[in-house]
Amino acid sequence: MSEIKLWSGKKLPLEMHKVRIVEKLKLLPIDQRAQLMKEAGFNTFLLKNRDVFMDMLTDSGVNAMSDRQQAAMLTADDSYAGSESFYRFEAKLQELFGMDFILPAHQGRACENLLAQVFVNEGNVVPMNYHFTTTKAHIMLNGGRVEELMTPEGLKIESNALFKGDMDVDALKNLIKEEGSDNIPFVRIEVGTNLIGGQPVSLDNLISVSNVCRDNQILRVLDASLLSDNLHFIKEREDAFKTLSIREITMKIADQFDIIYFSARKLGAARGGGICIRDEKIYDQIKSLVTLYEGFLTYGGMSVREIEAITVGLEETMDEEVISQGPQFIEHMVRRLKEEGVPVVTPAGGLGCHIDAKAFLDHVPQEAYPAGALAAALFIVGGIRGMERGTMSEERQENGDETLANMELVRLALPRRVFTLSQVEYVIDRVVWLHQNRHIVEGIKFYDEPDILRFFFGKLEPTSHWVETLVNQFKNDFQDSL
Ligand code: F0G
Repeated sequence: MSEIKLWSGKKLPLEMHKVRIVEKLKLLPIDQRAQLMKEAGFNTFLLKNRDVFMDMLTDSGVNAMSDRQQAAMLTADDSYAGSESFYRFEAKLQELFGMDFILPAHQGRACENLLAQVFVNEGNVVPMNYHFTTTKAHIMLNGGRVEELMTPEGLKIESNALFKGDMDVDALKNLIKEEGSDNIPFVRIEVGTNLIGGQPVSLDNLISVSNVCRDNQILRVLDASLLSDNLHFIKEREDAFKTLSIREITMKIADQFDIIYFSARKLGAARGGGICIRDEKIYDQIKSLVTLYEGFLTYGGMSVREIEAITVGLEETMDEEVISQGPQFIEHMVRRLKEEGVPVVTPAGGLGCHIDAKAFLDHVPQEAYPAGALAAALFIVGGIRGMERGTMSEERQENGDETLANMELVRLALPRRVFTLSQVEYVIDRVVWLHQNRHIVEGIKFYDEPDILRFFFGKLEPTSHWVETLVNQFKNDFQDSL
């Protein structure tokens, strides 16, 4: 999008929308925030939203809808079978991705369940640029394993590489040689990569990966949940494709794949999901599982209102001014935090601002979950709810040992068009204060640890009395301010 210059020379991410419906927020005093964090087992997933001031947990299902999306919801065609709403959804996906066969599902992980059940068998390997928690869990549940083939740049916190989500194509070729194509049911690419900081994948890389798969007759699967940010980055950062429109880039991406699935809690800014399939035989394989797990083929577990909102949301994803808002806010936050010496993932990616908890709390060992502790501390000092994306989000190994995450991140998601710049400035201020007082924060440990996806429900406690010290320091510095 064209950058709007300010006379002062400052750079500001200017909102290209206005707010017409608002929700009242409250910011509780710090003593209450500390008590609530304790009750939530130092797990930000277990906080109640009513107690949160800045809900930056995720962008999933919480992006602001447009007036057009809301209007479309009123025209939903409520029918168990043959709903007109579904046909509009189907037609939009066919138009954008050029694939003929569309299956609905209630959200992204439901698509992953269907794909893993159909394609993954005991001992199979699924190569990816990087895993996502639910994707990996479904593949493992079906007896497969995940191989992450990111480029070395992908795991560097600070980098100048513009596409840190790229897959290492040589590593893919080697893996295929080692495993044989028969043991690889599909290759999965996620655009952009959630767990390493919403980092984008270049179109050039998608084309190379696709060629390798085609040469080896391996199915190509795209997780397009975070596609909208990635489209923005291709348009902004990839010279070879700058002249293409967002719509043309979308089609060129789709051309590289046999199956595209997505969480419409992200892509399309509503709530739901879908699988787009090029080949009718594959469609037939998956279709009966949709009716078993999701619902009839013309709603798949979604409300028809949401289906309408997704359809409009998908079309709005083709508008550069719509999809650039998230990345621009994130870039602003990353730039300001970096100026203040806070360790953050660079370059700025999509989804949110990612703080490097390993460097932020370099005195806390990974076994004491620095990213989890930092996320808890941020709620205590600012009513800000972020998400741990580190060792807590990993599964333990079979022998009970921790799987230490490659990166210990706290993700501060920026749901699209939800927050104002002054709210973002407040978050920056509290993060900077916490960074200056980082020595106070220590680790956390589980006292209630579920076997699967433990980060959702697990409960933890501090390894020392650091919360009390942090609260006292805050009161000392901010006095009567919340
Ligand atoms: N794939 C990616 C890349 C995702 O980011 C998500 C969800 C899913 C699949 C699963 O989709 O939630 O609709 O079932 N990410 C959310 C997040 C949970 O907070 O980042 P879902």
